[in-house]
Amino acid sequence: MKKKLQKLAWAYLIKVFRAYEKVAPCEPRVTCSLVPITMENADCVALFRPAARVAEYREKLALGEIGYFATDGTTYYGSIWATVNLSDHRKIVHGYMPLKPFQALIHDAVTAEASKGKGIGPFMIARLIDLLLAQGVQCALIDVNTRNHPSLRMMEKTGLLPITTEFFVSLFGHPVIHFSRPAVDYLF
Ligand SMILES: CC(C)(COP(=O)(O)OP(=O)(O)OC[C@H]1O[C@@H](n2cnc3c(N)ncnc32)[C@H](O)[C@@H]1OP(=O)(O)O)[C@@H](O)C(=O)NCCC(=O)NCCS
Repeated sequence: MKKKLQKLAWAYLIKVFRAYEKVAPCEPRVTCSLVPITMENADCVALFRPAARVAEYREKLALGEIGYFATDGTTYYGSIWATVNLSDHRKIVHGYMPLKPFQALIHDAVTAEASKGKGIGPFMIARLIDLLLAQGVQCALIDVNTRNHPSLRMMEKTGLLPITTEFFVSLFGHPVIHFSRPAVDYLF
């Protein structure tokens, strides 16, 4: 129900991080690597998200979204997604974020409850930035809700600074209000 309402209308205050080049690797406290999420292993998304949302993630894959699991081959520690704008024009993705051609939005990073606090989030972000840049993406964006402290902390560990603070109001999947100002952390 909440999810359905969010699709209709929501307001979002975020910090936006942008990576144009490789970031230093962030080694997690477990041994793992990123493996692509495919239709075959997509059910494992249910390890981190409500099982009812597996279909939604399959749909994302079918639409060309890129997803990775952080895993050692046995244990799945986390997952992360990216939307890449492969078109030749500016595009609004996820109902709010404008992406220029060959920009990517990294989103839906999540770590399993038992694996939180082990550096898996920063590892996934840093590794995915590398993978996207190697695939021709010119800039990877990551947006974090200003109230999401674990996520802000995760970003701090990647060494990236927020470039802008942005406020969106989205109605029926379209941004109707959008303010952007330089992030204080970036100015000082
Ligand atoms: C944001 C998230 C992916 C970070 O992943 P992570 O692998 O725990 O990242 P880190 O190990 O770097 O921990 C980051 C911070 O989370 C907090 N944290 C640590 N253990 C935690 C736990 N068991 N539960 C909740 N938060 C915890 C700490 O503040 C930690 O910072 P610290 O190491 O300085 O203490 C994870 O908290 C998560 O899945 N959150 C829910 C989904 C979400 O908000 N995603 C972000 C989308 S941008």
